[in-house]
Formats: sequence, C-alpha cells, structure tokens
Amino acid sequence: MFHVSENDDLFSRRCVWVNGPVIVGAGPSGLAVGACLKEEGVPFVVLERADCIASLWQKRTYDRLKLHLPKQFCQLPKMPFPEEYPEYPTKKQFISYLENYANHFDIKPRFNECVQSAKYDETCGLWRVKTVSTSGTTRAEVEYIGRWLVVATGENAERVMPEIEGLAEFKGHITHACEYKSGEDYQGKRVLVVGCGNSGMEVCLDLCNHNALPSMVVRSSVHVLPREFLGKSTFELAMTLMRWLPLWLVDIFMLLMAWLVLGNMEKYGIKRPAMGPLALKNMAGKTPVLDIGALQKIKSGDIKVVPGIERFLNHSVELINGEIIDVDAVVLATGYRSNVPSWLKENDFFSNNGYPKAQFPQGWKGQSGLYAVGFTKRGLSGASADATRISQDLSRVWKEETKQVQQKTKASHRRCISQF
Ligand SMILES: Cc1cc2nc3c(=O)[nH]c(=O)nc-3n(C[C@H](O)[C@H](O)[C@H](O)COP(=O)(O)OP(=O)(O)OC[C@H]3O[C@@H](n4cnc5c(N)ncnc54)[C@H](O)[C@@H]3O)c2cc1C
Ligand SMILES: NC(=O)c1ccc[n+]([C@@H]2O[C@H](COP(=O)([O-])OP(=O)(O)OC[C@H]3O[C@@H](n4cnc5c(N)ncnc54)[C@H](OP(=O)(O)O)[C@@H]3O)[C@@H](O)[C@H]2O)c1
Repeated sequence: MFHVSENDDLFSRRCVWVNGPVIVGAGPSGLAVGACLKEEGVPFVVLERADCIASLWQKRTYDRLKLHLPKQFCQLPKMPFPEEYPEYPTKKQFISYLENYANHFDIKPRFNECVQSAKYDETCGLWRVKTVSTSGTTRAEVEYIGRWLVVATGENAERVMPEIEGLAEFKGHITHACEYKSGEDYQGKRVLVVGCGNSGMEVCLDLCNHNALPSMVVRSSVHVLPREFLGKSTFELAMTLMRWLPLWLVDIFMLLMAWLVLGNMEKYGIKRPAMGPLALKNMAGKTPVLDIGALQKIKSGDIKVVPGIERFLNHSVELINGEIIDVDAVVLATGYRSNVPSWLKENDFFSNNGYPKAQFPQGWKGQSGLYAVGFTKRGLSGASADATRISQDLSRVWKEETKQVQQKTKASHRRCISQF
C-alpha cells in the first residue's frame, strides 16, 4: 500500500494503493471475508463508516436481542462460537464473539471512513473508492485504488421511514426500531408499534414487560412460527426436512406445526399469506416471524393488534377501519434497506433496490473484480457461504496476478541485468 497526500489544517486528501481487495463494511460479512482472506495470505483493506466493528449489533439493536437461530447457523467461517455459549447467544455474546473473531484474524478496519462512491475505471482496470471522514472541524478524503471491490454494507444499512400522512405533525415521541433500546422509558405509555416483523413483535413484547401499553400495526399478512417445536429449533427442523422432502411439503408441515403450537391467529388479527413460509422467503425474501412470546401477549390482550394507518393526528392515529386511538409514542419497526445504489456507481450487477440482480447462490460475483457478501436474505449463514466462495475465488485470482507480476518483474530485472 502506498500513499500520496495533500494537506492543510482543516482538509486533507490522500490517495492509497491497495494491493488486494477493498472491503466496504466491517459487519459480520466484511469480517468473514477478511478472516478467510487472512488464512490465504491475501492482503486487504476494510473500510467502515462507524467507529467500531458490527455497528448494527453494537449501536442499532435493542438490549434484549438474542440470535433467533441456533448458534451453529450463525457462526462465521473458521471460528465456532465458544462451547459455553447458549444455543441462542445474546447480543452481548455475539458482539464479544465478533470482537474476538476480528482480533484472532488480526482484522483492523479503517473506522470512521464512509464510502461515498466506488467506480470502476475502465481505462486502467481499477476500482476507485472514495471515502470521507470528519472529526471535529477536520475533513479527510481518501481515494483507495485497487483491483477488487467487496461490497459488505449489508441488507440493513439504512432504516426505512414510512411516508404516512400526518406523521411529521404527530406531537408524541417517534423513534425507529434501530434507536429503540428498551421499554424502560415507556412505562405506562400508549405506544403504537408500526410493523409486525421480528423487530415489531419483539419491541411489543419488550414494551409489555416494561408495563407499557403497545398496539401493533399489522397492515398485511405475516407468517408467525414458534421458534421451537418439541424442544427443537423450527429453523433446524425445516433445514433437516428439506433434505428429504419437497419445499411445499415442508411448508405444509410448518403450517401444521404453527397451528398446533400457536393456534388460529386470524381471530387475533394476524392473517397468514397464501404462500407457505419457505416458499415466500425464497420468492420474496420475506422472513417469517419466529415467536418468542409476543403471540401469548396478543392472545391475552396485552398487545393490541390494529390494522393499517390512515393518518396521524396530533396525539392520536386514525386507522383504516375508521377507529381513532390515542397514542403517546410511536416506534417504527418498518425495516431496513441496502444503501448500495447511493455509492456504487454501476448498474449491471446490483439492481435499484441495492441487491444483486442474480438470485442466490449466484449473486456473490460480478464483473471486473466486483463481489457482494451478505445480500442473500439468508442471514449470517448466507453471509458465511458468500464469504467462503468470495475468498476462494479472490485468493486464486490474487495469487495468479501476483505470480504474473513477480514473473514480469523478474524477467525485466533479468533483462536489465543482461543489458549491463
Ligand atoms: C435487529 C436485527 C436482528 C438480527 N438477528 C439476526 C439473527 O439472529 N440471525 C441472523 O442470521 N441474522 C440476523 N439479522 C440479520 C443481520 O443483517 C445479520 O445478522 C448481519 O448483521 C449481517 O451482516 P452484514 O455484515 O452483512 O451487515 P451489517 O451487520 O449491517 O454490517 C454492514 C456494515 O457496513 C457498514 N457500512 C454501511 N454503509 C457503509 C459505507 N457507505 N461506508 C462504509 N461502511 C458502511 C455499516 O456501518 C455496518 O457496520 C438481524 C438483523 C437485525 C436488524
Ligand atoms: N434475532 C432476532 O430475533 C431478530 C429481531 C429483529 C429483526 N431480525 C431480523 O432483522 C431483519 C429486519 O426485520 P424487521 O422486523 O426490522 O423488518 P421487516 O422484516 O422488514 O418488517 C417490517 C415490517 O414493517 C411493516 N411496514 C413497513 N411499512 C409500513 C407502513 N407504512 N405501515 C405499516 N406497516 C409497515 C411491514 O409490513 P408489510 O409486510 O406489510 O410490508 C413489516 O411488517 C429481518 O431479517 C429479521 O429477521 C431478527
């Protein structure tokens, strides 16, 4: 790596050559690629906009969060979770695992560097990745130049803020689930939770446990499955069954199981989609909710299910059925989106929604040294699978190219010597 700089007190601009891939994002995906490349002896640079690794987990998740799949499906390549960890590690344990992972593989991301643009320069066959970092009054711009780019900015890079009439005028407190930490501050308050994905359900449960009064907006249909069936993880069960049975049959099994454990949820305002949970996940990437107690609170009436929102008023909300309910605070559990289109200047490999155009398992490799990790809608296990493929491919190409450069250098060196 070498640097070219230009400096004054408040502004600096540098150019850095990277002898290997530039990895954008130091979440689990970026770390997993880094670890696999380290094992292959391939150098790289990891750029991270936050001041820590796994910023989603460290800064943008609530306190009571646990992994919702058993740990063997969430570990990154080449380093299992510690044996003493429970089957569903807590957020704290997961972060500690990731910190040990980064230390073990000696991955040192460049923190506080937000990638503003990445563009492939056809004339020289190189990626030009521009970052900006600001500390106090000083602004630094760096351009990283290299042969390969690994996009690891995640499916949850930005919050989704819904456009709902009157939301800006609502007088109560509004927060997105990514800022919600616990229900402690909401005791005794009437809280409208917008969204019924895993975040919405769990925020409602947390609010109940802190004596708040949540209402959950369910505007369409959703699959809710128990996290476990007869002491076994539902996810693990589905994975096992899929080895022997067609997907549609496993879906029927899942629905029967959900009905046995959770009962008929339609009478509580939760409609199931027409398509089965696994088919829907495969087709539209919509994750089923894995229930860890919210359903019981819905049945007991502690969580009130309400239909879609018509508009917000000053201190209340009008629902599509005409009902008006008083609300003190709103939590928008309306999900997340990828931010790739805002900085990656290419449109062959990624589509406008920030996901690779090619479906799993094809979407990890593009043209001109471009790779994507963690965009399969398959959580941490999908990210690990991508990371393994990418590092194998990259190390092969990197070794071939470095061998060629070395041979050329040797040959020209010999020619030089022979001239003298
Ligand atoms: C609340 C919640 C719970 C979840 N629980 C689970 C679970 O139990 N199991 C599971 O498998 N999955 C879970 N997921 C899915 C989750 O997306 C993955 O677990 C995992 O975090 C994905 O890792 P990633 O590295 O791809 O993305 P992220 O963890 O989002 O990391 C991406 C990194 O890129 C950085 N970045 C973004 N843009 C830029 C930029 N322009 N320049 C520089 N850096 C940038 C971000 O700051 C971030 O650190 C959960 C998601 C959420 C929101
Ligand atoms: N480990 C865990 O336990 C855990 C916890 C939380 C999250 N996660 C994961 O994190 C990821 C994100 O989950 P998420 O729950 O935050 O997001 P999500 O799954 O995308 O769910 C967003 C929810 O918001 C609703 N919504 C969006 N706009 C709305 C509007 N204008 N009005 C009403 N409802 C609206 C959606 O309804 P529609 O379906 O109608 O669009 C959906 O119910 C998922 O992969 C999830 O599995 C995991």
